[in-house]
Amino acid sequence: MYHSKIKGLGYYVPENVVTNEDLSKVMETNDEWIQERTGIQERRHVIRGEDTTTSMGVKAAKVAIERAGIAKEDIDFVIFATLSPDYYFPGPGVLVQRDLGLKTVGALDVRNQCSGFVYAISIADQYIKTGMYKNVLVIGSELHSTGLDMTTRGRGVSVIFGDGAGAAILSREEDLSKGILSTHLHSEGQHAEELSLIAPGMGKRWVTDIIADNDPNDESYYPYMNGQFVFKNAVVRFSEVINEGLQANNLQISDINMLVPHQANLRISQFIQQKFKLNDDQVYNNIQKYGNTTAASIPIALTEAWEKGKIKEGDLVVLAAFGSGFTWGSVIIRW
Ligand code: COA
Repeated sequence: MYHSKIKGLGYYVPENVVTNEDLSKVMETNDEWIQERTGIQERRHVIRGEDTTTSMGVKAAKVAIERAGIAKEDIDFVIFATLSPDYYFPGPGVLVQRDLGLKTVGALDVRNQCSGFVYAISIADQYIKTGMYKNVLVIGSELHSTGLDMTTRGRGVSVIFGDGAGAAILSREEDLSKGILSTHLHSEGQHAEELSLIAPGMGKRWVTDIIADNDPNDESYYPYMNGQFVFKNAVVRFSEVINEGLQANNLQISDINMLVPHQANLRISQFIQQKFKLNDDQVYNNIQKYGNTTAASIPIALTEAWEKGKIKEGDLVVLAAFGSGFTWGSVIIRW
């Protein structure tokens, strides 16, 4: 039995900055409303045609591979988390295998939205723990901007989300006091439609011809979110799953050196921070700059925190996510 540790981290965000002011030119919204409700000041949107979910993931992966000090030939498996794949199928995992020029290693796609990276880390951890793989490339990447309803009708969703990618190399660690200590995953499909994008899905195709009947007024082609319901569930589940992870390892809240929550909404992070009585140095947020990048948010935030020297060897680092499904999870790491 081994542990897995995060050996390299990287992220990539498109250069194109979209401010709240920019959004107010295409829909009825304003900087004050967005900042007060979400903490977001700006987000990145790809320049159309320049980047895809896969290409952003590949760019983030190249940085992570280099920092891990491994050759791409050393990668045994690829796990890609996204809700915004380039193609309906195949998923972006195989596109990364192709674009990075990896040998014919396995590639797995994870469909767990905002919890996607936490689920992907958990899967990679199991493969490494059992000795099946030594190095697993885990990517979270999202291209939201081309799929959002950028009119006043869609403002409750579209002001929140941004584009970007993050990646990690998980590698075998023989010192069992280090690395990922445990992971904890949950779901509650009862609330599946509360944060969802119904079309294009086979369920939708069953009742309508998706190609011929793609009516711009059909809101099922745009993401839907019951914002207040999501908020209420998020704060409860974040707290539960962080506590679950700490208890499983006989750790206390006071042992946390750095909590990197999924960047859903600054108000959610602040609520958790206050509830757990953590100070500003113990929680890392960057939603102000990038919006909610779904599966990419944790690896982007984790990479930034690490780059800024906020995570040191021996630190207890907690990752926690909640999102569409509903799904949620946590990862407890001794860095
Ligand atoms: N700009 C200006 N006004 C907006 C707006 C926008 N972008 N979006 C919605 N509004 C309006 C609404 O139309 C509504 O107007 P009304 O009172 O005249 O009907 C009013 O603002 C309040 O809308 P409501 O949806 O109740 O706002 P809220 O306080 O719940 O905030 C969210 C909305 C989405 C910011 C909030 O619910 C939230 O953050 N939820 C969690 C979302 C999340 O974390 N999602 C990701 C999970 S992984």
